[in-house]
Amino acid sequence: MAAAEISPEGAEFIVVANRLPVDVERAPDGTLTWKEAPGGLVTALKPILSARNGAWVGWPGSPDVGGEPIEGEDMLLVPVKLSAQEVEEHYEGFSNGSLWPLYHDVIVKPEYHREWWNTYVEVNRRFAEETAKVAAKGATVWVQDYQLQLVPKMLRMLRPDVKIGFFLHIPFPPVELFMQMPWRREIIEGILGADLVGFHLPGGAQNFLYLANRLAGYPTSKNTIGVRSKFGVVTVGFRSVRVGAFPISIDSAELAATSKLPETRKRSRGLRKELGNPEKIMLGVDRLDYTKGIDVRLRAIGELYREGRLDPERHVFVQLATPSRERVESYKAMRNDIERQVGRINGDFGRVGHPVVHYIHKPVPRNELVAFFGAADVMLVTPLRDGMNLVAKEYLACRTDSSGALVLSEFTGAAAELRQAYQCNPHDLEGVKNAIDEAVHQDPEDGKRRIRTMRRQVLQYDVDRWARSFLQTLSGQVDEAPP
Ligand code: ADP
Ligand code: G6P
Repeated sequence: MAAAEISPEGAEFIVVANRLPVDVERAPDGTLTWKEAPGGLVTALKPILSARNGAWVGWPGSPDVGGEPIEGEDMLLVPVKLSAQEVEEHYEGFSNGSLWPLYHDVIVKPEYHREWWNTYVEVNRRFAEETAKVAAKGATVWVQDYQLQLVPKMLRMLRPDVKIGFFLHIPFPPVELFMQMPWRREIIEGILGADLVGFHLPGGAQNFLYLANRLAGYPTSKNTIGVRSKFGVVTVGFRSVRVGAFPISIDSAELAATSKLPETRKRSRGLRKELGNPEKIMLGVDRLDYTKGIDVRLRAIGELYREGRLDPERHVFVQLATPSRERVESYKAMRNDIERQVGRINGDFGRVGHPVVHYIHKPVPRNELVAFFGAADVMLVTPLRDGMNLVAKEYLACRTDSSGALVLSEFTGAAAELRQAYQCNPHDLEGVKNAIDEAVHQDPEDGKRRIRTMRRQVLQYDVDRWARSFLQTLSGQVDEAPP
């Protein structure tokens, strides 16, 4: 990738996210290589920015890497340099040791440290400053996610001329949980620097609206917030901040097209064969994160084998797990626990050359992933809490012949849209087992009806529609976006 000059006028459309869409890796000899960054935020936003020729301001994924903007494939990449200590205190500390567990129902206990908070403030300031430098006059700036909640206010102070949107990709927690946060008012004020604040679900938007009034004392509208419509309004001095629900989605058409390619189909058949041509393949695809409920599905599957409701000779489970946040303690503990469970199930039910659980701890290339979705008869998505969960939607987009089944936790954002899935409460182990059992043994015609309905939803409401509805609302082109 080549270094690039930003035009003297600056960029008209800018995404600001903690991560760039590519991670840099530094080899021992000092050379840098780039690889696709993990997670749903990057998956969702990359096609949007590619289509708009904008700039992406973000951290390149390694400490002490930064410098000049770089011309990416179809966007300008503006790297923000963070020191090792900043990575430890902003990224691993406040973002993933305080905010991530707090916003995900305190599945793990959040820790609150003043040094982490101070570094969070400093790093947010650096992102705001870098953005202010590259934004054209009157540019549209779209700030993403929990790592950068103070950027909207800081950027507004530096550049009152730009239009600022903020979108939270993870759940916004219930009021009672948010009140734990020692710097709760600062966070609400930081987000309110935006002109439009977006969440996946109306519930999160409603919680935020309530807190804008309770913690910051601003007048707020009293109406009920709808999906892509009926926005809430917070009056901040002379400004109106709109608050709405915009459920994110995927590039469904592109995935469907990839899944139909002859080479993808061939690879799906190849995978089935490598797995011993079992009757049913169950699949899990996640970042290795404690929110994803990988342990829940392993426990359920283990018991189903034990009870004879799954047959080790006919039913196999594949878990693809991308390494994630590996220096954070809670992630290390979870990995050990999951790997122990995989070992135990294989020890109890596998035989030589025929494990029942296939566990891959590395990211899988996109085309290979699509082939896995094509090969999977049952997709297991069982998070304890998840803002949206794109994997569920990706699976559906790839089921072009409408076969397959989706087991889906009620506690994902996707559950609100995908009502025909085999939904389950991940805290209720018997319920999860029953959902898996039903999905594995479903009537094929009933299964097709379910997948067809959900696929229609995913193809119609794709990521482009998500971005358009947010950006049109931000630009004031719509007062009430169409439902
Ligand atoms: P999160 O954003 O919390 O990681 P999502 O389900 O919303 O969860 O998005 C995850 C994204 O990362 C999806 O696009 C998914 O395909 C991709 N992904 C997850 N696990 C893997 C894996 N093992 N290999 C390759 N891609 C993965
Ligand atoms: C989720 C978050 C993103 C994050 C991604 C990957 O999708 O909402 O903000 O980038 O996970 O996590 P990581 O910590 O590797 O950036």
